[in-house]
Amino acid sequence: MTAFFHRQDGALAVEQVPLARIAAEFGTPTYVYSRAALTAAYQAYAAACKGRNAQVQYAMKANSNLAVLQVFAKLGAGFDIVSGGELKRVLAAGGDARKVVFSGVGKSAAEMELALSHDVRCFNVESIPELDRLNEVAGRVGKRARVSLRVNPDVDAKTHPYISTGLKGNKFGIAFEDVLPTYRAAAALPHLEVTGIDCHIGSQITEVEPYLEALDKVLDVVEALEREGIRLEHIDVGGGLGITYTDETPPDITGFATTLLERVAARGHGHREVLFEPGRSLVGNAGVLLTQVEFLKPGAAKNFCIVDAAMNDLARPAMYEAYHRIEPVALRDAQPVTYDIVGPVCESGDWLGRDRALALEPGDLLAVMSAGAYGFTMSSNYNTRPRAAEVMVDCANVHLVRERELVEDLFRDERLLQD
Ligand code: LLP
Repeated sequence: MTAFFHRQDGALAVEQVPLARIAAEFGTPTYVYSRAALTAAYQAYAAACKGRNAQVQYAMKANSNLAVLQVFAKLGAGFDIVSGGELKRVLAAGGDARKVVFSGVGKSAAEMELALSHDVRCFNVESIPELDRLNEVAGRVGKRARVSLRVNPDVDAKTHPYISTGLKGNKFGIAFEDVLPTYRAAAALPHLEVTGIDCHIGSQITEVEPYLEALDKVLDVVEALEREGIRLEHIDVGGGLGITYTDETPPDITGFATTLLERVAARGHGHREVLFEPGRSLVGNAGVLLTQVEFLKPGAAKNFCIVDAAMNDLARPAMYEAYHRIEPVALRDAQPVTYDIVGPVCESGDWLGRDRALALEPGDLLAVMSAGAYGFTMSSNYNTRPRAAEVMVDCANVHLVRERELVEDLFRDERLLQD
């Protein structure tokens, strides 16, 4: 538990608001975010960046609710986007497009054009065909696109294979041996301006060593390019810093960011701007998924606790066997029973937690913890389930920041055949 999600007279609360009150007002399943937790995580990066040439680019794929983006935009964040849709969200939330970096392996020409029309700070480019397309689009609209190349440093981030991105076998980045020729090609294209370099080695990384290893390789490239007359203004170290779901002990944010900034300075690159692209570490522990117990179903091999949230609401357990702590909102004075916490979706993979010892009754509320990152953004309508409501708590205030979907909305755009 954190200072923002805590027990008040035994009952789980967010900042000054009991979760039971939120369930009564908005129903379940509902994602609940703490504005203070978002702010504290951002300030932890900002503390390391203070007095240095450094900028936080929030990787909004982790949680792109407009109110979340608004909180970060007001704090001064830039954004790391991966689609034209995400850019439109930044604009709708009052963010500054000139502080946006555009990542991703498959940007369409239309997305490039949209981003150029809003003058985004930089495109993080991952291949020669992408450079050619961007050059062509920029030429067509009469602009010069600023580019950074995403280097694949071939570093083992020691994380889940699905969320590891910096190894040779990944689809991401430009292979290390191809980086210099690709920069030369980029520098020769008339409608591009080479401004930076980036890398991202994976997600939920709990050690700083892989970052330093990748950073050293990136700095080697920066130096080699400078010798050829290609001067880079910024170094984007990516995101990926892990959080505590259960017993992980990631480095604290400020210490982590300071270590990287000090390495950059120690190697003589302190004049270049450093960009961080954190997603999970800004939002993961700032949100929970609030759900209610429907039925308890004892079984010969296992006991099941069936709740009203499912894999369509929180996909991480089903997709990555990810562990999320599950806390009862009110504590019962009874003998705990070991349950698999499962949803109503018709899939055996529909589980939120396995083998959890809890004292429960039907109707009880549960909080699936650490659900602020890759929770709502990865949710779907599988089984024609409306997506959850989202609520932001700010001290004693509760703001509904996304209405629960209505079933009618889900098939409103579908058409019956004429006969
Ligand atoms: N920058 C780039 C280029 C990325 O690909 C990502 C995440 C980030 C930054 C932010 O990484 P973070 O700080 O959040 O670790 N759905 C998975 C995680 C996928 C991460 C994809 N890329 C999960 O639920 O664990």
